[in-house]
Amino acid sequence: MDDLQLLIDLHAQGRRQGPGGDAETERALELAGVDRAVPLKVADIGCGTGASALLLAGLLNARVTAVDFLPEFLEVLQQRASSLGVADRISTLACSMDALPFAAEELDIIWSEGAIYNIGFEKGVADWKRHLKPGGLLVASEITWLTDARPTELQHHWEQEYPEIDVASAKIRVLEEQGYSPAGYFVLPEHCWLDEYYRPMQARFDHFLQRHGHSAEARAVVAVEQREIELYETYKAYVGYGVYVARKPLHRDLLSC
Ligand SMILES: C[S@@+](CC[C@H](N)C(=O)[O-])C[C@H]1O[C@@H](n2cnc3c(N)ncnc32)[C@H](O)[C@@H]1O
Repeated sequence: MDDLQLLIDLHAQGRRQGPGGDAETERALELAGVDRAVPLKVADIGCGTGASALLLAGLLNARVTAVDFLPEFLEVLQQRASSLGVADRISTLACSMDALPFAAEELDIIWSEGAIYNIGFEKGVADWKRHLKPGGLLVASEITWLTDARPTELQHHWEQEYPEIDVASAKIRVLEEQGYSPAGYFVLPEHCWLDEYYRPMQARFDHFLQRHGHSAEARAVVAVEQREIELYETYKAYVGYGVYVARKPLHRDLLSC
C-alpha cells in the first residue's frame, strides 16, 4: 500500500481530517451574518469526511456541494449524510480544488476548513472568487502564525511544510489584494486541535498499525503525525488555525488606488 492509501486508511475513520469544531463553524456563520432562512448554494472545498459540510447542510436552508479529490472520504460523507437525515440537501463531487466545475457567480458561499493550503491560500482565494455571486462569502481556515516571531524549530518545520504560512494581517492583506472585503477573523481554540482532531487520531494508531502488520511504511505515517502533534503541543502559543471570513464586493467596476 502506498503512502496516500495509508493516509486515507488512517483518516477515513475520523470525523475530521484537520483542526476544527462545530461551535467554531457556527461562530464563522455568525461572523459572516448568514441568514439561515434564505435559500443558498454552498460549496465546501476539501470537505474530507464532511464535518463542516454536514453541519452546514443541517443549519442552513442550503444545497451544499461537498468537494474533495478523495472518493473514499466522500463515500463516508454520504453514509453520514444519510444517517443524519440531510442526504437530500448535500451532494458530493470528486474533483480537484484547482479545477472546480462551478459556473461563474454560481455560489453564495464557499466554505473551506483546513484545506485551501493544498493549492495555497493566495491561489485558492484568487481562483475561487469567480464562482462567488457578487456579495457572496468566502470562509476559509488556514494555518497562521500567532506572533510576529517564533521558535526556530517551529519556524523551520512549517516553512518546509507550507512556505505560505504567515501572520493573520498578511492573510487579510491577501484577501484585500484579491478584491475581497474582510469581514472577520478568529483563531481556532486549542480544543479544536487536541480534542477534535489529534486525540481521536491518536486513538486510531494502534488499530491502524495492526491492520498494516506494523510495516515500516505504516510506522512512518504514525511517526510523522506524532511529530506534528508534539510540535503543536510544545509551540501552540505561536501557531494556530485562523478562520477568515470575507465578502466579494457587490459591484464590479471598482478602482483601487
Ligand atoms: C486537512 S483535510 C481537512 C478536511 C476537512 N475540511 C476537515 O476539516 O475535516 C484536507 C482535505 O483536502 C483534501 N484535498 C487535498 N488536496 C486536494 C485537492 N487538490 N482537491 C480537492 N481536495 C483536496 C484532502 O483529501 C482532505 O480531505
